[in-house]
Amino acid sequence: MRTVADVRALRASIQAWKKDGHRIGFVPTMGNLHAGHYSLVELARRHADRVVVSVFVNPTQFGPNEDYTRYPRTLAEDTVGLVDHQCDLLFVPAVDALYPCGLEHALRVHVPEVGDTLEGEHRPGHFDGVATVVAKLLAMVDPDLAVFGAKDWQQLLVVRRLVRELALPVEILAGPIVREADGLAMSSRNRYLDDDQRARAPQLHATLEWMRESSREGHARAAVEGAAMRRLERSGFVPDYAVVRRAVDLATPAEGERTGLMALVAARLGDTRLIDNLPLD
Ligand code: PAF
Repeated sequence: MRTVADVRALRASIQAWKKDGHRIGFVPTMGNLHAGHYSLVELARRHADRVVVSVFVNPTQFGPNEDYTRYPRTLAEDTVGLVDHQCDLLFVPAVDALYPCGLEHALRVHVPEVGDTLEGEHRPGHFDGVATVVAKLLAMVDPDLAVFGAKDWQQLLVVRRLVRELALPVEILAGPIVREADGLAMSSRNRYLDDDQRARAPQLHATLEWMRESSREGHARAAVEGAAMRRLERSGFVPDYAVVRRAVDLATPAEGERTGLMALVAARLGDTRLIDNLPLD
């Protein structure tokens, strides 16, 4: 596996592979890789001849009081894991390679509608940062396909809309959520949890399963959402939302709509904010 920080070196490798007729798969990450990320690398491997992974903790997608400075940076371990998972090229750009005009004056891409709800409301500017960095990374890597995890379902929809509106010639694949044995979705932020919080954390997934059961039993959406918020509070969370939305665009479903729905939750345990989701059918 080659590791490059320089955009010209990245492009040279990729152009050489493309010239040889290879299909390029890309997995953008912020590092601190776990089994969830490696499953995305494996998915890319199955659909492409060469796999490129980026590790870049993107400052523009963190709010002023969020965890940008303490976000875990574990490049040495990540490099070993990526070699084990047959990554061909690791791209580790510096901040000024992605933001050459400085962070304050940087271009911002805004994805309306699907980017404005849920996480967009609770983390203002977050998806502008995500859409901006993903647009830049896709322009640099120029992959045939890129893989995003379904845990960040809204991010996946934002990226799909970005790619469609910019007519980028890249296929976007979704990698299924990878969970711990007790149901907790794998996330780099799980390592912030202390023992007590870690013991409570699976209740996030348990609440999603409860929302699925309640919806299947025919309970009204608003009642399910309200009860899910109270359930999370009783388990020690401070919930931001627990909602049932259309999976395809996160719009609020019409009364009686039963198919293509998804439950999504975001809640804090202490200083750690976790998100998760579950299709209802
Ligand atoms: O999901 C992530 O890790 C990040 O949001 C991404 C897509 C790498 C953009 O920084």
